[in-house]
Amino acid sequence: MRNVLSVTSECVPLVKTGGLADVAGALPAAVAAHGWDMRTLLPAYKGLLKKAAAQDVVWKSKELFGGPARVVQGEAGGNVVLLLDAPHLYDRDGGPYGDPVDFPDNPQRFAALSFVAAEIARNGLSDGWRPHVVHAHDWQAGLAPTYLKYGTPTDVATVMTVHNIAFQGVAPAAMLGALDLPLDAFTPDELEYWGQISTLKAGLVHADAITTVSPTYAAELMRPEFGLGLEGVLAARAGDLSGILNGIDTDVWNPETDPEITPYSARSLAGKKKNRTALLAEFGLSPTKGPLAIIVSRLTSQKGMDLIAGAAEEFVANGGALAILGSGDPQIEDDLRLLARNNPGQVGLCIGYDEALSHRMFAGGDIVLVPSRFEPCGLTQLYGLRYGTVPVVAATGGLADSVVNSNVAATQMGVSTGFQFHPIDKGVFAHCLRGVVDAFSRKTDWTRLQKRGMKQDLGWGASSATYAALYERVAK
Ligand code: ADP
Ligand code: GLC
Repeated sequence: MRNVLSVTSECVPLVKTGGLADVAGALPAAVAAHGWDMRTLLPAYKGLLKKAAAQDVVWKSKELFGGPARVVQGEAGGNVVLLLDAPHLYDRDGGPYGDPVDFPDNPQRFAALSFVAAEIARNGLSDGWRPHVVHAHDWQAGLAPTYLKYGTPTDVATVMTVHNIAFQGVAPAAMLGALDLPLDAFTPDELEYWGQISTLKAGLVHADAITTVSPTYAAELMRPEFGLGLEGVLAARAGDLSGILNGIDTDVWNPETDPEITPYSARSLAGKKKNRTALLAEFGLSPTKGPLAIIVSRLTSQKGMDLIAGAAEEFVANGGALAILGSGDPQIEDDLRLLARNNPGQVGLCIGYDEALSHRMFAGGDIVLVPSRFEPCGLTQLYGLRYGTVPVVAATGGLADSVVNSNVAATQMGVSTGFQFHPIDKGVFAHCLRGVVDAFSRKTDWTRLQKRGMKQDLGWGASSATYAALYERVAK
């Protein structure tokens, strides 16, 4: 066995605001199958020590950015978790980053996480475990490769994964000292980013290898529209950058065993009809012959949620129905409230976060809408495929890599699994939905499309082998 330390700010089943948590929670089992023993380091946010039954103290320090800290080992979802217990940084209400307003000391909070990752890599835990590779996720762990590079030299390799480049971990230059960063690293070639510090840039510059969560997004990231200022940094490291598509947990997302729903399978979709009827009722929607569309998403412009209100009018006029679950941008929430009010019985809205309801929606929906402007990977289109809920997606990032568009050729060859549209605007999206309504009326073809999606291999098999091979390649 070789050892790898995964460093993350979220991990299911302990704490989740988005897909990063799902991926961090799935990776340990996925790479274990290839001989890698992964432990996951994350902050001990309020209540987590108890949730993970964490008791074994495996690392401690009298002083970590303003207070004492220890790492307590526990277990979550069958995986070993290392909780960084530093009450002055993490024991507070308000979500992992502060909600609705970010905590002002987030730079220190996540620098501390990265700093401890580097300490563990350098000196190991008290039980003797020490990683060969540190795998850092997003800006929150971006400084781990930097702390490793600038401290006592070590033989530990680093991998930096970008889940979302829109969050770059920017902090004022005046914080260099407070974050224990070397002043001579504050140059455009290293930490400096438009006069400030970017912890994500630091990771991209200092890690041995960089990954992101789909091959298309890896290529997109080197272009200005997607790199959001970091495209040059990424292009300079093109040879070390690769895209590895996320998988999903096919046990949790399994329509044959999902406890939330009437079970069904690709062999018999009869159960899916019952879920559809139940979902219509749950959202107060009228029965319809048109497709029942679902959305489970953060309500942000990244996700294209500002396009929904405009595109939905025609869709519901053509017999479609829409059930939305999500929360986010107050303006988008208001627009969707108005849409629901203007289309009673056809558009239903639930503002909030509800894991169980999301399962019922994937089981009951006919299509899932994912019109993202950019999407590193995206998970909901994968859940859609798994549940025979045909994905209608923007042709970008991981959406482009995981859904085969029903164009004439793909349909004739029998390989399509959903619908893609591009460019990403309201008119093109509405036009695509017109085609979907039409396709939905051709029942035999539609059932084929559903079943083909359900039979896709959506688990971690291939991608976990790719991660393991990457760890092997960088390990010194
Ligand atoms: P991102 O991480 O950018 O938000 P992903 O598609 O990778 O996008 O992951 C989002 C995850 O969060 C999925 O597991 C999705 O089902 C879940 N999710 C998003 N919004 C909600 C919600 N309101 N209720 C329940 N689950 C949600
Ligand atoms: C980010 C991305 C999403 C991806 C997830 C997990 O939140 O926005 O596309 O699926 O990370 O990698």
